Amino acid sequence: MKLSPSVLSADFTNLGEQIKIVDEAGADYIHLDIMDGQFVPNISFGIPVIEAIRKVTDKPLDVHLMIEEPIRYLQEFKDAGADIITVHTEACTHLHRTICRIRELDMKAGVALNPATSVNVLNYIFDDIDLAVVMSVNPGFGGQTFIPGMLDKIKRIHKIADDKGLKNLEIEVDGGITLNNIAAVVDAGANVIVAGSAIFHDDIKANVKEFIKRMY
Ligand code: DX5
Ligand code: ZN
Repeated sequence: MKLSPSVLSADFTNLGEQIKIVDEAGADYIHLDIMDGQFVPNISFGIPVIEAIRKVTDKPLDVHLMIEEPIRYLQEFKDAGADIITVHTEACTHLHRTICRIRELDMKAGVALNPATSVNVLNYIFDDIDLAVVMSVNPGFGGQTFIPGMLDKIKRIHKIADDKGLKNLEIEVDGGITLNNIAAVVDAGANVIVAGSAIFHDDIKANVKEFIKRMY
């Protein structure tokens, strides 16, 4: 089980400090949401912010690209310090080429599925990805409510991974995860939990520790 706190909900005036807190409290990855105002109706932050974050943590940077045709920028994200790159199937004309390019650049490759997207898009690429990312909200904003129907999608991917013997496939779930629904998400088969608004408030260290406790 891994926890990947999403800094989208962090206090950006205090970003370095807050990343150190989640790092030291036991976060496995640091989840960075990149939004282009095109694929999703919001703009977040870009390459210089990733470079700055790279300097304050050694944890793998789990970069979630909510941008159109991300293949155009993979080298830049690699150079900025990304370890894992997740792209959206809905944003890639040539998804297979995109994930192959991510691996060629020596990063882990993830594919994210919007809530309405079928698991079938992964059928022919399971061997080419390191992470399947189930979006449990419509991407674009932190603090939204978990869509319960996504539990079935997590279960389906978990079953396929089992049947195919894909022991290393990470099943990441992103959006609306709280202390109240994390158990259901883990039971469904998720092994990487993203959480933003439920972690970056009040006592961040205590929140991370509580999440980790509930993950097992
Ligand atoms: C949504 C982002 C998420 C977001 C999660 O588009 O991909 O990573 O930060 O935030 P919460 O946990 O608040 O739903
Ligand atoms: Zn995300």
